[in-house]
Order: sequence, then C-alpha cells, then structure tokens
Amino acid sequence: MRQCLIISLILLLSNDICAAPAARTEVDPELTAGYREGDMIISPVQRNGLRADSYRWPDQIVYYYINSNIDRAHREQILIALNKIEVSSCLSFREASKDQKYYVNITSEPGGCFTAVGFQNRVQQMNLQYYPLDEGCFRMGTIMHEMLHALGFYHQQSSADRDKYVRIAVENIQEGKEHNFEKFDDIIVDNFDQEYDYGSVLHYSPYGFSKNGEMTIVPFKAGAEQIMGQRQQMSDRDINKLNIMYKCPRQV
Ligand SMILES: *[C@@H]1O[C@H](CO)[C@@H](O)[C@H](O)[C@H]1NC(C)=O
Repeated sequence: MRQCLIISLILLLSNDICAAPAARTEVDPELTAGYREGDMIISPVQRNGLRADSYRWPDQIVYYYINSNIDRAHREQILIALNKIEVSSCLSFREASKDQKYYVNITSEPGGCFTAVGFQNRVQQMNLQYYPLDEGCFRMGTIMHEMLHALGFYHQQSSADRDKYVRIAVENIQEGKEHNFEKFDDIIVDNFDQEYDYGSVLHYSPYGFSKNGEMTIVPFKAGAEQIMGQRQQMSDRDINKLNIMYKCPRQV
C-alpha cells in the first residue's frame, strides 16, 4: 500500500496590517492544510509532473463525486473549474456511479484545501474547505490547482531546475516551514519540455510562509512576482504540460 504524506501550498495576502515587520500568520487555505507542501497528500517520491505512468488516470477519464453537503452554487463552481480543464485538454470528467472503484471524492470539510497527488487507483479525497465563491479554496484557480495535483502535478517551484529561476529566501521563511520549499529530482518529475513558469496556477505566491512580509520566493526575472501565485486560470504552459502528460494531441 502506498504510504501517503502530505504537502502544501502558498498564498498571497501579503498586506501587513502593521507597517513594521511582524509575524505573519499564513491564512491561505492552500497552505494551512498542514500537509507536506500545504495541500498535497503525496507519496514521498513524486514531484512538478510525475513521470510514472501509474499515476495517470486511465483512458483520460477522471471520475469524481461531489458530496451532497456541497450546495448548488459551490457545486457549480467546481463543475466550471473541471470544465475549464476539460476544454483545454483531452480529459473528460465523469460523475462516479455507485460501483465506480476509483474516483476523486470531493469534500468540503474544515482543514483547508488539499488533495492526493496523481491517480491512486482507489477513492482519493480532494478537500475544498467551505469559503464564499471566489475566495479561499473556492477560487477558480485553486479548484483547478487542486485538481491538477490529483492529475499528477506538483508545485511549479519544486521543479528540479527552479534554482535557475528563483531564490528561496530561507531567512524570510517561518521557523519550521522550510520543508514547504523542497525541490525534486529530475528522475521523478518532468517539466515536459516547458520552460519554468512563474505564471503557473501551480506556483506559490512570492510571500508564502513568510515570517516578516518579505518574499520567500524571489524571482530572478524582474516583475515575475506580479504573476507568481495567480489563481485565475491555467497558464499556457500548464495546459501544455497537462496535454503532454496525458498524451493529448492539443498544444497551445
Ligand atoms: C468522501 O470522503 C469523506 C471524508 O473522508 C467520507 O466521509 C465520505 O464517506 C467519502 N464519500 C465517498 C462517496 O467516497
């Protein structure tokens, strides 16, 4: 049996209430779920796009179940996010029938936003803590972000080549949160020939887990901090990576 660990994510909310550097409490629910990099329940050997085919959803079909305690408006928001992934790829999302053996069990419990990474060949949970629409776990980009984890992707800044694009500013990271900034080996993750992507919906914000309001991920490219951590939509490279991973004919 696969032993699962947990990972998490980052958020921006960088506006300090006090002008002086102050301890900053991470409020992004992608980050506070307390998993390995905030929001991922993962096997220890996986990272940006899992290489192993065993983590791919078979036949490009992703089964899901949206729990009945999720109200209509939130259900719609989830379905819109899934549809955005569907129209950008060759994947199809299907509601799990009673006898479906493997599916993403979409819940809305306390504890932030988190998910298992990659296909697990069993029921795998994806939690979106209840928030008003377009906030917290119910931002469109966050729902897509979590689903991209479930499809087999890790955070952009964990990629093997990230040190060429960003500096992890350890001096600004909250004590004990350094593990959220690990990078992964090329043998395990694949960039699918796409260049490092500051605008990926899977990139942390520059201020994730900051203890002093300063950036924890400092981009080498000037201005890139403006797009890092966006949670509106998949970037073109996110779409390309997804299509290459799932052997879809489509490319942006
Ligand atoms: C989904 O997961 C929750 C939390 O683990 C569990 O209580 C529920 O029974 C699951 N539902 C389905 C249909 O798998």
